[in-house]
Amino acid sequence: MAFRIMISQLLNRAKKIIPLSEAEILLAYILKKDRSYIVAHPEFPISLYKRLFFYYVLKKRNRGIPIAYLLGHKEFFGIDFIVNRHTLIPRPETELMVEEVLSQIQKYFEQSHKNLNQTNDQKDEKIILIDIGTGSGCIPISIIKNIPEKKVTSIAVDTSSFALRVAGRNAKNHNVAITFLHGNLLEPLNKIFSLHQLDSASKQTTPYLLFITANLPYLRTEQYNNEPSIQHEPRHALVAQNNGLALYEELLQQLQKIFQQTMINRFSTSLFLEIDPSQSRQITELIKKYFPDASVKIKADLRNQDRLVIITFH
Ligand SMILES: C[S@@+](CC[C@H](N)C(=O)[O-])C[C@H]1O[C@@H](n2cnc3c(N)ncnc32)[C@H](O)[C@@H]1O
Repeated sequence: MAFRIMISQLLNRAKKIIPLSEAEILLAYILKKDRSYIVAHPEFPISLYKRLFFYYVLKKRNRGIPIAYLLGHKEFFGIDFIVNRHTLIPRPETELMVEEVLSQIQKYFEQSHKNLNQTNDQKDEKIILIDIGTGSGCIPISIIKNIPEKKVTSIAVDTSSFALRVAGRNAKNHNVAITFLHGNLLEPLNKIFSLHQLDSASKQTTPYLLFITANLPYLRTEQYNNEPSIQHEPRHALVAQNNGLALYEELLQQLQKIFQQTMINRFSTSLFLEIDPSQSRQITELIKKYFPDASVKIKADLRNQDRLVIITFH
């Protein structure tokens, strides 16, 4: 039968255009099967409709559209996230930030459990997680999903309302409660922070630990222009002025103001920033400019590249 084409024939054609492994992933997606099924059943017949769809996707992949956008999904920290062209595709190196926040939360729980005597209950413990530039929401969702004791209030901010829509869907799919706010860095949180004004009548606040995570755009324009693999991802999610550090500087300025004008306790706050490995010296200088007494720790990713800055305030 002339029109009956099998998996093996289709893959033989596709591998002339894209790597075989990618063709298998895309065909598995179209046939709604596992990749292992595709490999194990080379004789499986493919309908004309599915074949045409496969050629369409193949063409897009050949034009450089990332596989994650074609599939509409990307795994991050072992969790499946919806992604589309409005969101950055979560990167494995960002998992380091999630691991570090989780490790600090774990230590906090262990410490506060140690401090508790048998009769005290734990209702006063509070963790506030603020993610700036949330994209698909992968950072806060991965953190909250991995906290055994769900005592977290979480807020996530982005300037892209399209990205926030995707993040909202991801939070819903994973049954995670996050308040999503649209706006520039910490600005949308002003109302919440102003509840902690210095002159507030009640200076009693519940003890809390505040984690601010930010994987903001940090590439220089020429880095973006010279990297073909990222051309289909949103530029506004990747590039920043001033050697890639403009948004981090603005974030530091906003935080300085918050510490000066509100009751937000700097001692309870930790800030996590993802950087390009070339930026570790410059970001340290910037942090010291706004917070001379802050302690700055830089952690390397699995490829031994400086990737994460952890700032605690004194
Ligand atoms: C590098 S992506 C990171 C996305 C996600 N956090 C991740 O790790 O996959 C940066 C995100 O920051 C957002 N963004 C850019 N400028 C911003 C700003 N001034 N305030 C808040 N979000 C911003 C972009 O829309 C984008 O979603």
